[in-house]
Amino acid sequence: MIVLGLSSGTSVDAIDAAAADLSLAPDGVLRMRPLGHTEYAWPAALRERILKALPPAAVDVAEVAQLDTLIGQELGRAGRRAIDDVAGGDADLVASHGQTIYHWVVGARTRGTLQLGSAAWIAEHVKRPVVSDFRVADVAAGGHGAPLVSVLDALWLGSDPAAPDDGLTAALNVGGIANVTLVGRVDDPVTGWDTGPGNCLLDVAVAELTDGRLAYDRDGALAAQGTVDEVALAALLDDPYFSAPAPKSTGRELFDATYVRRRLAAVRPDLTGPDLVATITELTAASVADALAGRDVRRVVVSGGGARNPVLVERLRAALDRRVHPGCAVVTSDELGLPVDAKEAYLFALLGFLSAHGLPGTAQGEHRRRATGARRAVVLGSLTPAGPLPWPAATTPVRRMVLTSSPRGLVPRDPGPTPGPTKGSTR
Ligand SMILES: Nc1ncnc2c1ncn2[C@@H]1O[C@H](COP(=O)(O)OP(=O)(O)OP(=O)(O)O)[C@@H](O)[C@H]1O
Ligand SMILES: [Mg+2]
Repeated sequence: MIVLGLSSGTSVDAIDAAAADLSLAPDGVLRMRPLGHTEYAWPAALRERILKALPPAAVDVAEVAQLDTLIGQELGRAGRRAIDDVAGGDADLVASHGQTIYHWVVGARTRGTLQLGSAAWIAEHVKRPVVSDFRVADVAAGGHGAPLVSVLDALWLGSDPAAPDDGLTAALNVGGIANVTLVGRVDDPVTGWDTGPGNCLLDVAVAELTDGRLAYDRDGALAAQGTVDEVALAALLDDPYFSAPAPKSTGRELFDATYVRRRLAAVRPDLTGPDLVATITELTAASVADALAGRDVRRVVVSGGGARNPVLVERLRAALDRRVHPGCAVVTSDELGLPVDAKEAYLFALLGFLSAHGLPGTAQGEHRRRATGARRAVVLGSLTPAGPLPWPAATTPVRRMVLTSSPRGLVPRDPGPTPGPTKGSTR
């Protein structure tokens, strides 16, 4: 089955698309053949509207409804192009993550999560069945609904012949938010959680410092010119999120556009320029290394846009060396066969395949829970068929409807006690 995965992350930098040919053998081995990946820029005005709708903004429901449509249409256009560009004109299914607009976390639990991008509009453009809304079923089962990548990491890296014999592999994705999955051997339970900010705080600082000329610190050029401010770094690392136990998830609701300014207001209100960028870069590296400290990690497989920032990767390497394991290997997912820019899009292709086959989309975690913290394994996503479903289609048009009684006749419902006079609304 050829599945096209579509995703846009918390950075809202682009729509990522990746196509994979997936097949499941009777021995339980899932073969994934990456066919190709690409990205499509968001139209500038729509990107602006999405960014304006993210926390801490308060948006009205009209804006949410309009964004759902506009994002769905754009994902649909991207999907249609991607079927030609990377899937050779052929795809059986499109799996869309959508655009996270709000991830509702209360204390240690995720209560809800909202990804916009109407699947009906995607299906209208791609003329294929669409699976979407992957996160919420896991949330309903008591999980965080994020990060979802642990199932890919467990299936893929758990059977990697080059895996270290003497310790764990940590798969690290540095997108807007950074997340890790700790993987041992095949069938070992895995742990996955968001470590905190990846690039999201960096992107905000760079856009502010350059009056919007730069959207991110390309190749770490600004961070390379700055010096880490240890007082500011300590104040940033002092957030209780970093010391909370896994599994946990977060988003721009916590690490929003005003976060750094607010946290530094009392200690370093004047920190700016390359020193600020260097400090925020170090925050990502240090919070990842702190999260892995005390765990037997021997190899870190990095993906996401952060893998393209050499200063961040160097800081990470140094922090892992100090805090996790001297000589801890750092490799990119590219080196193991999944492109750093497209791992998330391939993840959604995998999740689409699993859901289409009625298979759960989360990995086994610890304490008889899923890696996301859910109580049970659930099939993720909602299906928008776009055409006939796998059961027989109707052969005649529908012209009218009649009410019929069941063979045993309608069973009268117990009317219960006679209601007294109704006061006001009963809803
Ligand atoms: N050459 C580069 N140098 C520095 N940073 C880069 C470079 N390329 C990408 N990035 C960073 O990566 C970010 C995009 O990463 P990515 O697409 O993985 O994040 P995302 O869309 O938020 O995904 P996720 O779903 O993981 O949250 C950019 O916003 C930028 O900060
Ligand atoms: Mg992205």
